[in-house]
Amino acid sequence: MNWDSDLYTQKHSFVYQYGEGLLDLLNPQPAERILDLGCGSGELTQQIADRGAQVVGIDSSAEMLTKARAQFPALELHQMDATNFSFPEKFDAIFSNAVLHWVPDYEAVVRQMADALKPTGRLVIEFGGQHNVAAIVGAVTRHLTAYGYTFRPFWFFPSIGAYTPVLERNGFAVRLAQHYDRNTLLSDPETGLTDWIEQFGAYFFEDVRPDDKAAILEKVNADLRPTLFRDGRWYADYKRLRIIAERTV
Ligand code: BEZ
Repeated sequence: MNWDSDLYTQKHSFVYQYGEGLLDLLNPQPAERILDLGCGSGELTQQIADRGAQVVGIDSSAEMLTKARAQFPALELHQMDATNFSFPEKFDAIFSNAVLHWVPDYEAVVRQMADALKPTGRLVIEFGGQHNVAAIVGAVTRHLTAYGYTFRPFWFFPSIGAYTPVLERNGFAVRLAQHYDRNTLLSDPETGLTDWIEQFGAYFFEDVRPDDKAAILEKVNADLRPTLFRDGRWYADYKRLRIIAERTV
């Protein structure tokens, strides 16, 4: 998927602002070697560096890496896929915020993360959990279907019960697993929901005629207004899966 990195930093900066809480759980120590998996535009990667750790950021998006390099030229960043990366030296910790739901082959990512960590290395990750943005996905799917389009879901939003066994099979001991609601305020009071769908849901409309897309977006806005528009602002119905795990074998 192509990322509009300007729309991301202008209207969806909450993604990395919320990630600051996860960074506190990571608690990076000076001289630790840390991988930021899916570093995006680099804000959290830089914060890890600011705490004295030696950080490496990877992302599959050239657009996001261009933005990250422009904003934070001193960072070490690489264009790599989460299912297929390797470094000569292992990491003390892997950090990943709001990324892993984009990778359908989640077993491959977990294997890669285990392989990239030192023995006893830690994983501090957060991504979309079961029923994440279900109201938005449900409304868009309903209207796509009504217009005669077929839609295949593309995100991976697991429950704790589905995800933690994958970690355990790959040599991790799970220390914390939390599945929580996080209704997320969208920045633009008028176009917040449409901006979100344009930025993150481009796949919905890959094969959709532009006039149908405009009509569907209008209907989705009308459908969701009673539930996701409150006190003059749009919210997205996020559900997060937050995990801390330690490599044990
Ligand atoms: C998330 O962070 O949960 C998310 C972001 C974009 C699309 C879907 C989910």
